[in-house]
Amino acid sequence: MEDRFLGENSSNRDVEHENRLRPQNFDEYVGQKKVVENIDLMARSANKRNTAMDHVLLSGPPGLGKTSLAMIIAKELASELHVVSGPAIEKKGDLAAVLTNLQPKDVLFIDEIHRMHISVEEILYSAMEDFRLDILIGQGASARTMQIDLVPFTLIGATTRAGLLSNPLRDRFMAHLHFDFYSPTELSQIIANNAKKMHINVHQDAQLEIARRSRGTPRISNRILRRVRDYALIEEHPIVELSDVNKALSLLDIDALGLDSMDRKILSVIKDYYSNGPVGIDALSATLGEDKQTIEEVYEPFLLKEGLLLRTPRGRVLSDKALVHIS
Ligand SMILES: Nc1ncnc2c1ncn2[C@@H]1O[C@H](COP(=O)(O)OP(=O)(O)OP(=O)(O)O)[C@@H](O)[C@H]1O
Ligand SMILES: [Mg+2]
Repeated sequence: MEDRFLGENSSNRDVEHENRLRPQNFDEYVGQKKVVENIDLMARSANKRNTAMDHVLLSGPPGLGKTSLAMIIAKELASELHVVSGPAIEKKGDLAAVLTNLQPKDVLFIDEIHRMHISVEEILYSAMEDFRLDILIGQGASARTMQIDLVPFTLIGATTRAGLLSNPLRDRFMAHLHFDFYSPTELSQIIANNAKKMHINVHQDAQLEIARRSRGTPRISNRILRRVRDYALIEEHPIVELSDVNKALSLLDIDALGLDSMDRKILSVIKDYYSNGPVGIDALSATLGEDKQTIEEVYEPFLLKEGLLLRTPRGRVLSDKALVHIS
C-alpha cells in the first residue's frame, strides 16, 4: 500500500528521520496507555519466567507507533528484533528460514500481517502454538510431513486491519492490542520531545497547533514539524511561532481540522457525485481513482473518528459536520 506520509517517493532521508525520532523506551513512548500497560506486564512476566513473551497482535491506523513499540519491546526483553513485511514473504521456505534462524526469546515482527499469502501464513500456526514447523515434503502418495523444532520466540504482528486476519491466525495471538489516535495534548508532548531531538525551539502555542492538525497521528506531527522547521529557518525565526505553523500548514494544504487535499476530495466527491451518500466503497474508489484498501486503511479511520463520515449498511454518508466543513 502506498504510504501516504512517507509518500510513494519516500527517500532514505525520510526513513532516517523517522528512525532518529523514534521513542527509545517506555518513558519516551507517549500515550497508548492501555497498550503500554499490557505490554509492560507481559514483558516483565516473561523476563521473570526467563522465557519468550506471549505473541501479541498490534492493530490500528498507520503511523501510530506500532513499529516503534515493537522495537522497545525487544529492548525490554533484551532480545533481538527481526522485522519482516507480511506481503513480501513469497514462499513458505522464506518464512521457515526466518523462523529457524531465531535465537531463544527473539522477537519476530511481521508488519502488515493481514496481507501475508495464506500458504505462507499456515506455517505460522504450529510455529506459534508449539514452536514447531510442520513441512510437507513430496507430493501425492509419497508425501510426508517433516517436523522441525523451533526455539521459543515472540511473534508481534502489526496490522492496519485486524478484521482481515484469518481466524486461525488471530486465535493464536494471546493478546490483541488496539492503537487509538492520539489526543492533541499527547501529540504536543511528542512534538516537544522531537523538537528537542531536532535542535529547534518551538513556542508552546505552535506545538499545540501542529498537534491539533496532525490527524491524531505522530508520524504526521513529525512531518509537519519538519516543514515548519524549514519555514522558520528560511524566515530566520529563531523560535517557531504560531504564525510560522499556520503558513507552513497552508503550504502543505492542511486545513483547520487537519484534513489534507485527499481527505477533502473524498468528502466533496461524496457530496457532488453521490448527493451526500450513501455510496459503496467500490464506487467511491473508482470515482476517486484511489485504491480501495488505501481509502479504507489510511483515509477513512480519521474521517470516521471525527464524525465527518458515517458508515451505514448501505454505504458511506456525509455528516452535517462534513457538509459545513467543505461548503
Ligand atoms: N507513542 C509514541 N511516542 C512518541 N513518538 C511516537 C509514538 N508513536 C509514534 N511516534 C513517532 O511516530 C513515528 C512513526 O511511528 P511508527 O513507525 O512506529 O508507526 P507505525 O504504527 O509502525 O506505522 P505503520 O503502520 O505505517 O507501519 C515514529 O518515528 C515516532 O517518531
Ligand atoms: Mg510500522
